[in-house]
Amino acid sequence: MREEGLLTSATTPEEIETEIGLRPKTLDEFIGQTALKERLSILIEAASQRHESVDHLLFSGPPGLGKTSLAAIVAAEMGAAFRSTSGPALERPGDLAAVITNLDHGDVLFIDEIHRLPRQVEEVMYPAMEDGQLDIVVGKGPAARSIKIDLPSFTLVGATTRVGRVAPPLRDRFGYVARIDYYGTEDLAAIVARSARLFDTEILPEGCQAIAKRSRGTPRIANRLLRRVRDYASVRADGHIDADIADEAMEVFEVDQAGLDKVDRAILKAIIEKFDGGPVGLSTLAIAVGEDTETVEDAYEPFLILEGLIRRTPRGRVATRRAYTHLGLEPPVANGQGQLIEP
Ligand SMILES: Nc1ncnc2c1ncn2[C@@H]1O[C@H](COP(=O)(O)OP(=O)(O)OP(=O)(O)O)[C@@H](O)[C@H]1O
Ligand SMILES: [Mg+2]
Repeated sequence: MREEGLLTSATTPEEIETEIGLRPKTLDEFIGQTALKERLSILIEAASQRHESVDHLLFSGPPGLGKTSLAAIVAAEMGAAFRSTSGPALERPGDLAAVITNLDHGDVLFIDEIHRLPRQVEEVMYPAMEDGQLDIVVGKGPAARSIKIDLPSFTLVGATTRVGRVAPPLRDRFGYVARIDYYGTEDLAAIVARSARLFDTEILPEGCQAIAKRSRGTPRIANRLLRRVRDYASVRADGHIDADIADEAMEVFEVDQAGLDKVDRAILKAIIEKFDGGPVGLSTLAIAVGEDTETVEDAYEPFLILEGLIRRTPRGRVATRRAYTHLGLEPPVANGQGQLIEP
C-alpha cells in the first residue's frame, strides 16, 4: 500500500471528522487573513442592515486554507442556513434545480469545486444568480416547454482551487471574488495553539512554532502535524509538547526542516535523477512518483514552486539549484541563463 504523504493539503479520510470539530465558527475565531475578514465583515454587516442576502462570493486558493470554513462562517454570521454541494455532484440542470428550489429565503448555498460544474448546469446558474429566476426546460420533444420559477433570495458561495478554470461569465456574476493566500508562521502557530486547546493538549509556544514552520502555509497541514506530534508526545514522552518533542516527532514522520515530506523529496529526486534535472512534463513526473497528476499539481507543486525548489517552464518542470542543495546533491554548472546543464 502506498503511504499517504503527510503533507498533502487534501483531506485524508481519517481527518473528515476531526476537521469539522476544528472548524472556526465565527469570523473572530478564524485566524489570519485580516484584510479578507475585514471585507467580509463589511459585506455581511451591510447586507444585514438592509435585510438582504450577502452578494454571491467566490473563494479561491489552494486546498486546506479555509475556503469551506469561511463559507460556513458567512452563513453563521448571517444567521442563515448553510447548504452544501459540489460542482461534480450537480451533473444535470435538474440536480441544480432540485437544490435551488429547496432553498429558504436568505440561505447560503455553498458549491465546492465550482470549476467542475458542467456547462449546461452553469447556464442555469446565470439567471439564478442574476435575476433570482430559474429557467429550465421540462419534458422532451414536442411536449418540451420552458418554465420560469422565482427563487427566494440566496447567497451563492463558490469555492475553487483553480480560479483559472472558472468560466469568465460565471466568475463575473460573483459580487466579490476573494483569493485566500498561504498563512505566515505566526498565524499558523496561533492555529496550532487553538487546535491544541480544543484537543486538550498541552503545548508550549515553541512547540507551536516548530509545527507552524513545517506546515507549508496551510492550516489543514498544521492541524495534521499537531495530531502526529500529539501521538508521539503521548507515547514517547509525558504528553506535553515543547520544541524538542515537536522536532523529534517530525523526524520520526520524515517531515524535514523545510516542511518537505517523502513525496516532495521523491518529486525533487525524480526530476534530478530520472530526468536529468528536467524539464519533465507534469504527468510523466506524477507517474514517476506514483501519484496522480492532479495531486502533484494541486498539493505538492505549489509549495515546491513557492520555496523555489522547482520551476515551471513551457517544456515542463525543472529542478533549481536549491533542490540539489536541499537534497545534499552537487548542483550542475549553470550556463549563465539560469538554466542548469550537466557539468
Ligand atoms: N483561518 C483559520 N483559522 C483556524 N483554522 C483554520 C483556518 N483555516 C483553516 N482552518 C482549519 O483547516 C481545516 C481546513 O479548512 P477548510 O476545510 O475550510 O479548507 P478548504 O480551503 O475548504 O480546503 P479544500 O480546498 O480541500 O476544500 C479546517 O478544519 C479548519 O480547522
Ligand atoms: Mg473545502
